[in-house]
Amino acid sequence: MTTATAPAAPVAPARPAGRHLVTSLPGPRSLALHAAREQSVARGFGVVLPVFIDHAEGAILVDVDGNRIIDLASGIAVTSVGAAAPEVAAAVADQAQQFTHTCFMVTEYDGFTRVAEALNRLTPGDHEKRSALFTTGAEAVENAVKIARAHTGRPAVVVLDHAYHGRTLMTMTMTAKNAPYKDGFGPFASEVYRAPSAYPYRWPGGAERAAEQALAALEEMVLTQIGAHRVACIVAEPIQGEGGFIVPAPGYLRGVQELAERHGILFVADEIQTGFGRTGAMFACEHEGVVPDLVVTAKALTGGLPLAAVTGRADVMDAVAPGGIGGTYAGNPVSCAAALATIELIEREDLPRRAREIEALAMPRLAELQQTSPFVGDVRGRGAMLALEFVTPGTTTPDPDAAKAVAARCNAQGVLTLTCGTFGNVIRLLPPLVIPLPVLSDALDVLERATLELS
Ligand SMILES: Cc1ncc(COP(=O)(O)O)c(C=O)c1O
Repeated sequence: MTTATAPAAPVAPARPAGRHLVTSLPGPRSLALHAAREQSVARGFGVVLPVFIDHAEGAILVDVDGNRIIDLASGIAVTSVGAAAPEVAAAVADQAQQFTHTCFMVTEYDGFTRVAEALNRLTPGDHEKRSALFTTGAEAVENAVKIARAHTGRPAVVVLDHAYHGRTLMTMTMTAKNAPYKDGFGPFASEVYRAPSAYPYRWPGGAERAAEQALAALEEMVLTQIGAHRVACIVAEPIQGEGGFIVPAPGYLRGVQELAERHGILFVADEIQTGFGRTGAMFACEHEGVVPDLVVTAKALTGGLPLAAVTGRADVMDAVAPGGIGGTYAGNPVSCAAALATIELIEREDLPRRAREIEALAMPRLAELQQTSPFVGDVRGRGAMLALEFVTPGTTTPDPDAAKAVAARCNAQGVLTLTCGTFGNVIRLLPPLVIPLPVLSDALDVLERATLELS
């Protein structure tokens, strides 16, 4: 008797690990889906690259046409652990099977408390803290203002030039840039005052005087225009995100904190974009040795589920009476499960260290690009939050068209790249912190070529 041997299973072709395009971008399926979207979705939602995503693999987004796109956006600084981290997916699935919602103000669940404990432990300072969970970054910023007002009994809020804090009425008011964020949406909230930002590249008195002069202007505003006894809080991003990845001049943040302390004002750090390892430290304030009274977080706190928080001094946080803060979905249990899995990954994999490795690879290449391309006026950032500012050659005049052209070329070649900045002339790099360095290198090759093609 002969035994038939089963035919060998066909060997699947090796799947490319990195960037790989099989159509032009957007491909035909994305184009069809985009046409449908235009018939049903409000026009007010813009889009950077109109491709529809099928699934994610680490730092790669795979679209519905099968294109593999390198993600230098992380869904705007959200998916630091990747957009499909198995640990996060499992935690979400488990929690969704237990229960999806109770409303923490109706009946309790331990996930909320455990996220609060983790935030109290991880945020700067070893003083006694409390946390409050919300859903979006803007909502958390609004609540930080409410808490600061409740604690101080004062109305005024000081924010900075180039600030971005969100799109709700209060946070839109706190945001600096008119179009597209504020134009046509007024009138705005009252008692919001704007001070200069110590933006080294554009400080009129020169980068080395930026901190001192910006602090002097802030103090004058607080003392003479508002009255220090009327100021509840100063809210600042430790690296300004949407405003252009502006790393404040050294000493500025500490000066703001000291000024606030002198006048009984609370210092609120908006770490929504900078938090959870993105800048090479768990929180960007740590680079300046600053311990804020309140820290606002969101984005990378989960692997992409909506969750945001205010964490801070126990006496400040507890100034609000029960019922004064909250929300139906605030601290949703599925989001809390995702946050706990994400935090565990960030700590276990030491993702702040990965951010520093990303900086070590990318920053010298960006600095070299600044030497070779007259369109690159400044390179800056920390960790995996890096940027190129584009200018008209030989000047510091912002060149948004150059930034847009470079970003468009990168996007067309499968390197998802965002612009930002008050003048729209900054390209920002926000890769997932888990990006393999060879994949990042490939993306930087594309970015370099696209920049050197400018004329
Ligand atoms: C610094 C900062 N604050 C606040 C927000 C608003 O967060 P959300 O879009 O979740 O409301 C953002 C969003 O980009 C941000 O970068």
